Amino acid sequence: MEIIQSIESMQRRSCSLKRSGKRIGMVPTMGYFHEGHLSLMRLARSKADIVVVSNFVNPTQFAPTEDLDKYPRNFERDCHKAETIPVDIMFAPRNEDMYPEDFRTYVEVGEWGKKLCGLSRPAHFRGVTTIVLKLFNIVQPDIAVFGWKDAQQFLILCRMVKDMNLPIEMIGGDIVREPDGLAMSSRNKYLTPEERKDAVILSRSLKEAREMIERGAMEADVLKERIRKMVNGAQYGRLDYVEIVSRETLEPLSRVQKGESLIALAAYFGEARLIDNIRY
Ligand code: PAF
Repeated sequence: MEIIQSIESMQRRSCSLKRSGKRIGMVPTMGYFHEGHLSLMRLARSKADIVVVSNFVNPTQFAPTEDLDKYPRNFERDCHKAETIPVDIMFAPRNEDMYPEDFRTYVEVGEWGKKLCGLSRPAHFRGVTTIVLKLFNIVQPDIAVFGWKDAQQFLILCRMVKDMNLPIEMIGGDIVREPDGLAMSSRNKYLTPEERKDAVILSRSLKEAREMIERGAMEADVLKERIRKMVNGAQYGRLDYVEIVSRETLEPLSRVQKGESLIALAAYFGEARLIDNIRY
């Protein structure tokens, strides 16, 4: 696997790959790989000639009060894991190259960035769209793979690709879960053993909501109340939000619409803010 740090070298490499007719599949990441990341890389591998993974902890998507400094990092271990896929190129730019002192331009996401996770992380999605557009311009992928775990992020980025006419096929990879159901996340590392045990309530509450829907309970308020009770009933759980929205518009739904709905939640367990969702 080739490791590229310089923006210019990555751009030159992508240009020459494209000139020789190769299809580039990209997986943007912030590193600290777990099986969720690896499944996205495998998906990219199955659809492209060349797989590029970016590994960059993006400061503009963290608020000053958030966990940028302690966000877990292990570049060497990431390289070993990526090699098993195999990934062709790991692009790991330096912060000072991505955001030089005179950096000024951001991608605004509008209303969608203020909903769901945007309520408690108001500048987060502007940071995500800005870095992803920069990465797309550097790597020039034909295909980009993101996880449905970050459903709002994926939908906002699909919107950006459409609105900005980027010639990129967006692919969403399914959530990968631990054996007990907890969605894999780099932030699970922050959980104490007690909080880790409790955090399984997130996927359990979503599973329970799915079962309720399958038994005919389509009212969003009823489903949200059940999830709220289950998560807040856990000793260490504090629900941030639960919403049932349209995957097309991100507007709240009063009733679950089959094939169109996203049930998304975020909750705190100690220091960790975890998210999870199901599509129905
Ligand atoms: O999902 C992530 O890891 C990040 O938000 C992303 C898309 C790599 C942008 O920094």
